[in-house]
Amino acid sequence: MASTDRPAPLRLGSIAPNFQADTTNGPIDLHEYIGDQWLVFFSHPEDYTPVCTTELGEFARLEPEFTKRGVKLLGLSANTLGSHEGWIKDIKDVTGSQVQFPIVADKERKIAYLYDMIDYQDTTNVDEKGIAFTIRSVFVIDPKKVIRTILSYPASTGRNSAEVLRIVDSLQTGDKNKITTPVNWVPGDDVIVHPSVKGEEATKLFPNLRAVKPYLRFTPLPNA
Ligand code: BEZ
Repeated sequence: MASTDRPAPLRLGSIAPNFQADTTNGPIDLHEYIGDQWLVFFSHPEDYTPVCTTELGEFARLEPEFTKRGVKLLGLSANTLGSHEGWIKDIKDVTGSQVQFPIVADKERKIAYLYDMIDYQDTTNVDEKGIAFTIRSVFVIDPKKVIRTILSYPASTGRNSAEVLRIVDSLQTGDKNKITTPVNWVPGDDVIVHPSVKGEEATKLFPNLRAVKPYLRFTPLPNA
């Protein structure tokens, strides 16, 4: 595919491009599938590959944690539906977890290309076995269909599922309260008062705030 055909770059704040696709749970329209929930949309280079198998098993195991947070899961792998169906059985054998969420069949890598889930070149760039370089991406999309997080990992490195949950927790906590979250934050830790909240508003909203510097004010989460 010529480089001039590239879709517009996706950035944090972009509306997640809509698409229709076949999945292991039937055809979907992305925006309809998201509905009024959050979405974690994550891609894999290829079915029946070792790292991807461990990742899908882990996301399947953690699905109830995502559901508790109002988050749907959607996988994508650059193979056919038939291949996905067989692979899901393998994932259950290997990890003990049944994949319940849909996995998009993206054999032609059209959606991978739309979401820039491939390497620096284009969809024709494959290894000697025909595996595309490299589609191990994560998109966190909110109920307004806005892309809130984009992660890209190399094929050799399995993702950290706990980090994906932590990002969801940080985004949702920040949306509900005027706060940000510090390095290595996990739910229950102190948060940081958002820089836009100043003076009296800050002390009213966060009576227990601790100003380490005027620009760095820690606080327990009110009503936590
Ligand atoms: C894996 O999932 O193990 C994998 C996929 C593509 C290339 C290399 C490894």
